[in-house]
Amino acid sequence: MKHPSPYAAPGFYDKALRDGRHRDIVGGRWDETPRIVLPLLTLHGLTPDDHLLDIGAGALRLGRHLAPQVAAYWATDASRALMLKGWETELDDPTRNRLPQDHLIEDAAFTYPDIPDSITFALAFAVFTHLPAQDLHTALTNLRPRFPRLRRIIFTAFLAPEGHAGPHRQPDGVVTHPDRFPWHLTEQHVTAIATAAGFAATAHPHRLPRGQVMFTADPLAP
Ligand SMILES: C[S@@+](CC[C@H](N)C(=O)[O-])C[C@H]1O[C@@H](n2cnc3c(N)ncnc32)[C@H](O)[C@@H]1O
Repeated sequence: MKHPSPYAAPGFYDKALRDGRHRDIVGGRWDETPRIVLPLLTLHGLTPDDHLLDIGAGALRLGRHLAPQVAAYWATDASRALMLKGWETELDDPTRNRLPQDHLIEDAAFTYPDIPDSITFALAFAVFTHLPAQDLHTALTNLRPRFPRLRRIIFTAFLAPEGHAGPHRQPDGVVTHPDRFPWHLTEQHVTAIATAAGFAATAHPHRLPRGQVMFTADPLAP
């Protein structure tokens, strides 16, 4: 395996941003994705009082809608340049005023540096679909001690049936793999990773772009 995801290829972000492709490299679908995802976040408990951490926020495809809707919005991504490109080109002035650039933190290791411990809700949309299971494990394991007030994380993954080996075709045609990008897991594996990290995870049967599956995960009582 050369790279776990296309994002990890040397120079990937520099070239894509130079070519003006900040919308494409987070998956396109800039109207459809927020239209589908935002109501589901509300359905699953995101409120205007929440302090939201958007993990792997990319060019702020969701963040540009979420920042004005919550009490505080923070974002991480492997590329701060990508988040800044979204800030500069995709946000209107009122949203820019609500989202200082120092709330956009480069973090490819899921250690959440320089984020206040006031975070109550976390989101990682279409992030672990692009990364091996170890990253989901690291991201969840580090969340618990870092953010004592965290109520819930919502994340997505591609799933394959239990016992399935090899590539799997998702409902809208994307072919995913157990050992390379785009990655799939079994539901049991996702919930086991969450439990090991101190969360109770539930899969939800919503129809999402590319057939990814939404999970909510809540901290288990200590
Ligand atoms: C498909 S995009 C989704 C972006 C955003 N969540 C959205 O829905 O618009 C996947 C994002 O994961 C980010 N990413 C990839 N590897 C990462 C890592 N190791 N740590 C943090 N972010 C990462 C990419 O830079 C990219 O912005």
